[in-house]
Amino acid sequence: MALADLAVIGLAVMGQNLALNIERNGYRVAVYNRTLERMRQFLAERAQGKQIIGCETPPDLVASLKRPRRLLIMVKAGSPVDQMINELLPHLEPGDILIDGGNSFFKDTERRLQEVEARGLLYLGIGISGGEEGALKGPSLMPSGHPEAYRALESLLQAIAAKVDGEPCVTYLGRGGAGHYIKMVHNGIEYADMQLIAETYDLLRRGLGLSAAQIAQTFAAWNQSELNSYLIEITAQILGVMDTESGEPLVEKILDVAEQKGTGRWTSQEALELGVPIPTLQAAVEARALSAQRSLRLEIAPQFSGLLLPPSPVAAIEIDSLKRGLYAAKICAYAQGMAMLEQATRTYQYEFDLSEVARIWRGGCIIRARLLEHIRRAYRQNPHLPNLILDPFFRQALLEAQPAWRETVQFGVGAGIPLPAMSAALAYFDGLRSERLPANLIQAQRDYFGAHTYRRLDREGVFHTEWQA
Ligand code: 6PG
Repeated sequence: MALADLAVIGLAVMGQNLALNIERNGYRVAVYNRTLERMRQFLAERAQGKQIIGCETPPDLVASLKRPRRLLIMVKAGSPVDQMINELLPHLEPGDILIDGGNSFFKDTERRLQEVEARGLLYLGIGISGGEEGALKGPSLMPSGHPEAYRALESLLQAIAAKVDGEPCVTYLGRGGAGHYIKMVHNGIEYADMQLIAETYDLLRRGLGLSAAQIAQTFAAWNQSELNSYLIEITAQILGVMDTESGEPLVEKILDVAEQKGTGRWTSQEALELGVPIPTLQAAVEARALSAQRSLRLEIAPQFSGLLLPPSPVAAIEIDSLKRGLYAAKICAYAQGMAMLEQATRTYQYEFDLSEVARIWRGGCIIRARLLEHIRRAYRQNPHLPNLILDPFFRQALLEAQPAWRETVQFGVGAGIPLPAMSAALAYFDGLRSERLPANLIQAQRDYFGAHTYRRLDREGVFHTEWQA
C-alpha cells in the first residue's frame, strides 16, 4: 500500500475536517484516534472513498508514513498533547516532524519544542482558527517552530489554508511558540469582538426594544459596511433562527451563561505579565465570568429593580450611532491585541511582522473582518507604529465615530445596560489621548503610605516627602 504524506492524530471536529481538507488537496492522509470506534466511523462515513487510511496503533501509524514523517496532533490542549508525543517518540527518527495544531498554551509549545528537538526531531506549533467550517474549507494557519519543518510543510499548509485575493492565510511566524502566542491573542480579540457585538445586541434589544428579526436585519445591513466581518455575519444569521418548538427566536431560549475553554483567560493573564493594557479584552473575559454567576444575578436582580428614574432618561438613540460606537470600540479592541503582540516581540525573542499577522487573519479565522485589510496596510506602511490608532485611517475613523461612541456608552449607562467592553474601549481611548492622567495622585499616595518615592515633571531625580504635617 502506498505510504501516506501526513498523519492526523485525533479525530474530533477539527482533526476530521483538517484530514478531509488535506486529502482534498491531493495528499494521502493516515489517521489515528485513541477511541478506535470514532476512527472507524469516520472511515466508514465522511472519509469513505478518500485517500485516508486508518491506523489502529501509533506504531502502525508511524509505519504508514513517508519519510521524513509528518504527524499533525489534533488532540485536546494540555496533558493529552504530552501523552501523545510520548507515545509517538519511541517510534520516530531524527528528522521526523511533529506538529501540534491544537489550542496549546505557547509556553507548553516552547517546552515541547525543546524536548522534541533535543531528540533530533523537528517541531511545529500551529495556531489554527476557523472552527469546523474553516478546518474543512480553509482555516487561517499560524505556524512557528523549526524553519526546516515549516519548509517541509509549506506547500501543504498553503494548499489547505483560506485564500484572500489568491493569497493563502498562512505564513511562517518565527521560532518557538510564536504561532500559538498569536493564536492566543487572536482568541483574546475574538472574545472582545463577540462581547462588543453582544453588548450592542443588548442595547438594541433591551435598550431600544427591537425584535430579534429587526436586530437580525440591522446586523445584516451592518455587514455590508465597514463592520463587515464573520462575527457580524453569523450574528445576523443566529438572530434569524427560530426555535422549532416555541416558534420564537432560538437565541432568546439559550441560557445566558457564556462558557470558555481558557484561551481568552491566557491572553488576559499574559497581558498582565507583560504590563500591556488590553482592557477591552480583559472586560470580555470578565463579562463571561459574571454571566456565569447566574444564580447570584437572579438573587440580586429583584433587589435592585426599578432603579431608573421615570421617565427614562434615555428615550432613544439612533441605530446608526450604535453602529459607529461598535466600530470605534472594535478598532480599539484590535489595537489592544496588536499592541500586545508588539510588546511580546520585545519581551520574548519573537519577531512578529504585524502586517503579516493581519494579512493571515483576513480569511479563514473567526475574527476575519474588513478592518484587517486596513490593519495590514497600516503596519506595512509603518512597521513601528506605536499604536494602531495613530495610523491616519484609524485616527480619522475614531475621530468620526467618537461622538456616537460616547452617546452609545451614555445610552447604556442611562438605561442600566452593562457595557463592560464598550466602555473599557472608550476608557482606553480616553486614557491614551490624555496628556495628563491622575497617576500623579497615585504616586503621591504611594509615597505617603510607603515612602515609595516619586519623580517630578519639572526636575530630574527621585523624591520623597514627609506628607504629614
Ligand atoms: C477559532 C476559535 C477556537 C476556539 C473556540 C472556543 O479561532 O477557531 O478561537 O479555536 O476554541 O472559539 O473558545 P472558547 O470556548 O474559549 O470560547
